[in-house]
Amino acid sequence: MPTTLNRAVPVDDSIQINDLHSNPYAIYKRLRSEAPVVQVPVLNRILLTKAADTKYVKDNWEMFSSDDPFTPMKRAFLAHTLMRKDGEEHARERGAMAPAFSPKVIKNCWQPIYTSVAEDYITRLNRGDTVDLFTELAAPFAARCLTHLLGITEASDEDMIRWSQTLIDGAGNFAGLPEPFEKSDAANAEMDRLFAKCAERVRASPDASALSAMVNAENPIPMSQIYSNIKIAIGGGINEPRDALLTILYGLLTDPEQLEACKEGALWNEAFEEAVRWVAPIQVSSRLVTQDTEIRGLPISKGTVVMTSQASACHDEDIYDAPERYNIFRAKAPHQAFGNGPHFCQGTHIARRMLAQILLPMLFEHFPNMTLAKTEAVKFWGFGFRGPMSLPVTLN
Ligand code: HEM
Repeated sequence: MPTTLNRAVPVDDSIQINDLHSNPYAIYKRLRSEAPVVQVPVLNRILLTKAADTKYVKDNWEMFSSDDPFTPMKRAFLAHTLMRKDGEEHARERGAMAPAFSPKVIKNCWQPIYTSVAEDYITRLNRGDTVDLFTELAAPFAARCLTHLLGITEASDEDMIRWSQTLIDGAGNFAGLPEPFEKSDAANAEMDRLFAKCAERVRASPDASALSAMVNAENPIPMSQIYSNIKIAIGGGINEPRDALLTILYGLLTDPEQLEACKEGALWNEAFEEAVRWVAPIQVSSRLVTQDTEIRGLPISKGTVVMTSQASACHDEDIYDAPERYNIFRAKAPHQAFGNGPHFCQGTHIARRMLAQILLPMLFEHFPNMTLAKTEAVKFWGFGFRGPMSLPVTLN
């Protein structure tokens, strides 16, 4: 990727945060063609929007470290989580949780549990009612499944959702305002108290959960890291499946032909994969440049933070025709919605199983003629995390 050219990286100060929240795809489209490597003052980062560049950065962790010192993540989590570590240290902590994410455990343990969670939440919905599936299904389903995976089933859905949002708000508190950190401090204290009780339980009676795998390991990582990595999974395991589910439903319910084809051919995997490509639930990730380098011939100095937009990578015209269209029939091409390299989403297979193989077929079996109640009321929002803010549907 690096070349011998050495021009200054262009600056785009027309980009505003609110525009990135409301319609980032229009900005990314322009940047991909005009300035794929660009300094965005409002982000204080160099933004990369081409798929080849985002993949290159994420695959090369020695040159592009995850340990970005400029994010408030450490302050919010009161810890240095595995997401901000590199190399062996990262691999050891990620490996500690890995048994709970293995294909065998997903199939034998999480599949039956998630199926019964899905049945429980779907049967709470009444035929003929108009409900917001954001609050009535997507968020609580994601939260409950996560409590099982992590080994903290004592937590309520409401607590999980609140903790997750509080951690995310703290990690995004670049302005350093006191309130988000006060809230994340309080949430950390609540989580620590609960985790201590759950750790005692899984010590006495080991199970397939991530907490049990970590606590009962032969050579365990420090307890502080066990706690902080459970927290990173709480911060990263609710919004994404929630937003992915709502995006799939919006894509299908606004296109009756695709919905029919999907129901007839059980194309739920295609519906899932295309939705996360279409609107990536995690849109951007940052990396710290560890040595002077170049991208597309432009100099990038050591100490700079580059922001890779996997959202933009997933719309790159070099790979996708009409990328702005939700199209479950598009030619298969790898997408970057789950990231790349050593930090590739650890929950990928869990998310696919939960949504494509369990929840979606069950939901449409119960409510085959479900319709969007107010199509124009559905607003997608978000620059870091993105999805519909609500999804009112009539259940039939
Ligand atoms: C559709 C759903 C999901 C999407 C699109 C998604 C996306 C991502 C992305 C893009 C990353 C990489 C971030 C980076 O490179 O900095 C990531 C990391 C991660 N995800 Fe997911 N995620 C999803 C669901 C889940 C679920 C259900 C879990 C369950 C706990 C999970 C756990 C994690 C963890 C632990 C990491 C950090 C991995 C590491 O740093 O090594 N994700 N996810």
